[in-house]
Amino acid sequence: MFAVSLLEAVRAAQRVVVLTGAGISAESGIPTFRDAMEGMWSRFRPEDLASPQGFRRDPQQVWAWYAERRGKVLKCQPNPGHVALADWQRRCAELLLVTQNVDRLHQRAGAQNVHELHGNLYEIKCTKHGAPSAWPEPIPDMPPTCPHCGDWLRPNVVWFGEALPMDVFEAASQAVPQADLCVVIGTSGLVYPAAHLPLLALQSQVPVLEINKETTDLSQRAQWFLQGASGQLLPQLLRAAFPED
Ligand code: OAD
Repeated sequence: MFAVSLLEAVRAAQRVVVLTGAGISAESGIPTFRDAMEGMWSRFRPEDLASPQGFRRDPQQVWAWYAERRGKVLKCQPNPGHVALADWQRRCAELLLVTQNVDRLHQRAGAQNVHELHGNLYEIKCTKHGAPSAWPEPIPDMPPTCPHCGDWLRPNVVWFGEALPMDVFEAASQAVPQADLCVVIGTSGLVYPAAHLPLLALQSQVPVLEINKETTDLSQRAQWFLQGASGQLLPQLLRAAFPED
């Protein structure tokens, strides 16, 4: 079912960079962003809910939306795709997991040192000076204020128009050209700069494996493209690559 060249590449790779997007968590019950009909942005305007301006305009609404999303995510469980990646990380000399997801399902499946490009739903931070801390429990109706400057505390996620955490993105950008294999899973590749990472791999002649339910702009250019659900394909691929375990 899998190309021999792919199984050999997976088996031989010592340094792997994996980039994940919302698709890897779809089978855990978390809606993706752009998948038509069920995507979150088909029901909400991103500029109202996921932007610094939207938060300034209506902190309570934005806070409530994130509190609800956080509540839903906490009830979801990692799926076999997350588990397979955490297992692969344990057997691989160096597997850097870079994610655009804010759900922390990779970590909950046992993955280590996950590079979160878009923040997470587990922390809040001061609007003015950062400094992440845990969400308050129980969650109040209004966002709390910073004990130091009095400004609002907000979810520690990257919003539209905001920069990514530069140290995280730079670490990922440096790892990609050094990798033996770059694996891109469940992302539409529409949001930059995250979408730049697979392009960097192609430019650096690093073989790319894409796993996605649908074709994307990357699919034709990737060395291997596996079309289907990552929660099924990843465990199958790793069982085929490492049959002795
Ligand atoms: P998208 O919603 O744009 O894309 C999800 C991708 O997952 C699509 O290409 C689907 O075909 C694919 N997919 C769906 N289910 C799948 C499955 N079971 N197995 C494999 N693939 C599947 O999500 P992202 O690319 O992650 O940013 O979106 C990137 C960023 O856009 C998000 O991090 C978010 C959003 O704006 C911020 O919030 C900053």
